[in-house]
Amino acid sequence: MPGLFDIININGLKLKNRLVMPPMATKMATEEGEVTEKHIKHYTARARGGVGLIIIEHTYVSKDGQMSPGQMGLYDDKLIPGCERLVKAIHKEGAKVAIQLTHAGAKASREITGKQPFGPSDIVPPKGSEAPRPLTVPEMNAIIKSFGEATRRALDAGFDSVELHGAHGFLLCQFLSPFTNKRKDEYGGDMIKRLRFPLEVIKEVKSKLGKNTPLFYRFPGDDMVGGGLTLNDAKLAAPHVEKAGVDVFDVSAGLSGSGHERFTQQGYFVPLAEGIKQVVKVPVIGVGNITEPEYADRIVREGRVDMVAFGHMLLSNPEFPRQAAEKLGVRVI
Ligand SMILES: Cc1cc2nc3c(=O)[nH]c(=O)nc-3n(C[C@H](O)[C@H](O)[C@H](O)COP(=O)(O)O)c2cc1C
Repeated sequence: MPGLFDIININGLKLKNRLVMPPMATKMATEEGEVTEKHIKHYTARARGGVGLIIIEHTYVSKDGQMSPGQMGLYDDKLIPGCERLVKAIHKEGAKVAIQLTHAGAKASREITGKQPFGPSDIVPPKGSEAPRPLTVPEMNAIIKSFGEATRRALDAGFDSVELHGAHGFLLCQFLSPFTNKRKDEYGGDMIKRLRFPLEVIKEVKSKLGKNTPLFYRFPGDDMVGGGLTLNDAKLAAPHVEKAGVDVFDVSAGLSGSGHERFTQQGYFVPLAEGIKQVVKVPVIGVGNITEPEYADRIVREGRVDMVAFGHMLLSNPEFPRQAAEKLGVRVI
């Protein structure tokens, strides 16, 4: 079995190792969502440290999908040049780079967007600011197009891949979750119907990416709230997501967030990633307070996950990948 420092080929994308920087919001963008010099410094330091893949933080595809101040946006062509500079700087340091695309849906706030938030239903998601209004089908179609346009911009900027944010209670997750999706039409009800909107987004994004650019999906392994998605539900949903064209499952969890505020155990979401790996054929990323190189190498060698994401570890120590290689006695080029 390959280890943490072995290359991996994912549908045309070759990564020099299996260490991933997961998407982590930096709040460094301008008011318009543009990339700043701070971003370039932040991400190039991690690329220089030897990580194989950086997934850039959650980036909104349309203005009404913005979640927080300082968030990156890719809702207009004017944002392409900044992203292009960021991609070039990261590539120069030898890492590949994807960007996470998102829409906050019912988690958006009037304070930021100037509008009442909207989602699948009128249910306030955990950490939502006010009751959302249910989306109409034409509005949903417009959002699907926004994801497609943002993908086209990501490709124009030179990104190696795109990740859809399907977890942490944002719009795609709101549709899949039985907690937030109470629709009575063809987009709500059983799991297949709740998946319909996320699958339509995947289809649109895949049509822009083409056959040889992989699509990552931040996938919810568990909502971690009563009445929400469970691992069993997630395992039933995952094969449909794979069939729609997702090339990598980046497994996280939590309708109210990514869990990093709550859990401290080494690899706390790895069991969820393993669960998803049992039902899909494509690679799976494990995450959750992973700090020990030996542990990370072991879960790859044992075939429990295919790649390992290091969040806090890379925030506090950009040089971690090189140090991990040294600790494991691996020679890196
Ligand atoms: C400051 C911060 C910002 C984050 N922003 C995002 C984000 O934009 N998108 C996302 O999917 N997860 C986000 N996360 C979750 C991380 O990607 C990761 O799953 C989580 O931190 C657990 O990994 P760790 O314990 O290695 O840090 C964020 C986490 C932190 C700490």
